Amino acid sequence: MTTKPSLAVPGIAYGADYNPEQWPEEVWAEDMRLMREAGVNIVSVGIFSWALLEPAEGEYDFSLLDRILGLLHDHGIAADLATPTAAPPVWFFRAHPEALPVDKDGRRMAYGSRQTFCPSSPAYREAATRIAGKLAERYADHPAVAMWHVHNEYGCHNNACYCDESASAFRRWLRARYGDDLAALNVAWGTAFWSQRYADWEEILPPRATNAGPNPTQLLDWHRFCSDELLSLYRAERDVLRAAAPSVPVTTNFMAITDALDYWRWAPEVDVVSNDHYAMAVDPEAEVEIAMASDVVRSLAGGPWFLMEHSTGAVNWQPVNRAKRPGELRRNALAHVAHGADGIAFFQWRQSAAGAEQWHSAMVPHAGTDSRIWQEVVRLGADLKALAEVRGTTGTTEVAVVWDWNARWAVEQPAQPNSELRFQDQVRSWYEPLWRSGVGVDFVRPNADLSAYRLVLVPSLYLVDDEGAANLTGFAEHGGTLAVGFHSGTVDENCHVRLGGYPGAFREALGVRADEYVPLLPGETVALSGGGTASLWSERLRTEGAEAVMSYADGVLADVPAVTRHTYGEGTTWYLSTQPDPATLASLLTRIRTEAGVEPIRTAAEGVEVVRRRGPSADYLFLIDHAGNGAEVPVADDAMELLTGKPTPGSVTLPPGEIAVVREPREG
Ligand code: GAL
Ligand code: ZN
Repeated sequence: MTTKPSLAVPGIAYGADYNPEQWPEEVWAEDMRLMREAGVNIVSVGIFSWALLEPAEGEYDFSLLDRILGLLHDHGIAADLATPTAAPPVWFFRAHPEALPVDKDGRRMAYGSRQTFCPSSPAYREAATRIAGKLAERYADHPAVAMWHVHNEYGCHNNACYCDESASAFRRWLRARYGDDLAALNVAWGTAFWSQRYADWEEILPPRATNAGPNPTQLLDWHRFCSDELLSLYRAERDVLRAAAPSVPVTTNFMAITDALDYWRWAPEVDVVSNDHYAMAVDPEAEVEIAMASDVVRSLAGGPWFLMEHSTGAVNWQPVNRAKRPGELRRNALAHVAHGADGIAFFQWRQSAAGAEQWHSAMVPHAGTDSRIWQEVVRLGADLKALAEVRGTTGTTEVAVVWDWNARWAVEQPAQPNSELRFQDQVRSWYEPLWRSGVGVDFVRPNADLSAYRLVLVPSLYLVDDEGAANLTGFAEHGGTLAVGFHSGTVDENCHVRLGGYPGAFREALGVRADEYVPLLPGETVALSGGGTASLWSERLRTEGAEAVMSYADGVLADVPAVTRHTYGEGTTWYLSTQPDPATLASLLTRIRTEAGVEPIRTAAEGVEVVRRRGPSADYLFLIDHAGNGAEVPVADDAMELLTGKPTPGSVTLPPGEIAVVREPREG
């Protein structure tokens, strides 16, 4: 196994996207001074600078970037140097109008924004790798360059193009997937129905707009293709950079919990996994999503990762862009660190006066340094400095949650039993009670090595292939505890229903069989024995070896088992055939994990997030008071709080809204 190059910035990296081309050079000197004041030690430069670097095709001007990199280096700030390929210049589209993407309805997009190009365009690929090559050639040995930042958020706005060029690329991808066997594709896609049979590869199209619903397998293959197509663009740029500078790590910023790309396929291709995360203003408990997203990224990385973008305050792309509350910036950023980030960066350094993102917050706001945001930015810089020793440590847990993009793409297609079922909501509903009780989790794909876990949770896995299903049920058979949510195991990798009763692939291991799904209407609830209620989904379920732990208590399914428990081989399996209300789900998951022998990291007051990172000689306990009530949390007798630098023997006091990071030495 070859080790990947790592980021040579000491401690926890701190920084932002830095776009100084928006400002006169006088401002740059102030930028350097303020970056040092805030403790910034890395910035991402050049992300959207293509037109600046290549003002006309084949004409390059690196003078500005030379000066910026020189200035950064003189001030001891590292550069995460980006390829500018997410924003092709106007000249490119004037020369290659065919590289503008086409949407589902056949509309060709115009230039004048960013991330508007056809991923399958040969001209785009050629131009993108060429500018990447020029950057590599010029800056491979530049002392400021600590990391390459390829492109920006692949899949954000540019996930799919429906043009003829993309159609050809899709066909090539399908020919490889189906081994050039068109009959196999026809079977996989179920084209016998609705007269969809293809007689020639050339007949196959992307899922363009039609009057009636799309073919589910075509749509699923399209998602897979779009992810792979962008991945191949990423690889092309990466390879050029790697060849010139093999010791400089390469990253591209993921949007890990979105449905754009199959990041399990992407993660092995980068040296440093980096992620962008923005909280939604309408989410009253954004801290739960931050934790979940960070755990997904940590799991993709298999260790520490880099938070490439989040916001100091409001974003500019939601209907109402909420400002962060006092203290929220620190709580958010340090929550990312708690869940494994070894680098914390924002979009962007200085808030724009002009252009598309003038109303997006930044580290230096419009108001300048006499501002709440700047104060918090400086304070966070000091916090991160105090956490230097946490770098490289990572979480340990006995609980895994299955997360799979194929299952997500499949279950969120049209014409499902219940269009209200959203993959991420399902996972979050199971994740949240664990988070509340201070139980850490890893996210895994269905065929992952599960030997490190006692408990594996499968909140939503509509699609699973035979290998994944066997891996999960085998885990229970050999002594683990497996809990599965409704509408899981239903179809195979081609979206074909597993016949004979639900939940298909898991029926035997769960000791149950449903002969009918009974989805619930929006707002409809059904009573559960034991006092709770359930919504979204129910099933006409019967036990085949399992015991009923809860039953439906009213409606057409009165007395039918709703939640079951089964001894399977040496292990235990649970099935939740419905979506219990949050309190009922929380108590069920507490029972499931307690029986599996999984205990919280530490018990703290309601609303206090508890996360642990483990190092070779110490544990780092992160305590974050989201509820704003303050708390007293028991810690080891020889513990020390890192943000204040004070010993905290036996217990630590958390003032309202505050954060503590406690080092507890480990025996051994
Ligand atoms: C990201 C993007 C950044 C910036 C940010 C604003 O999606 O990568 O360039 O636009 O959103 O929230
Ligand atoms: Zn296209």
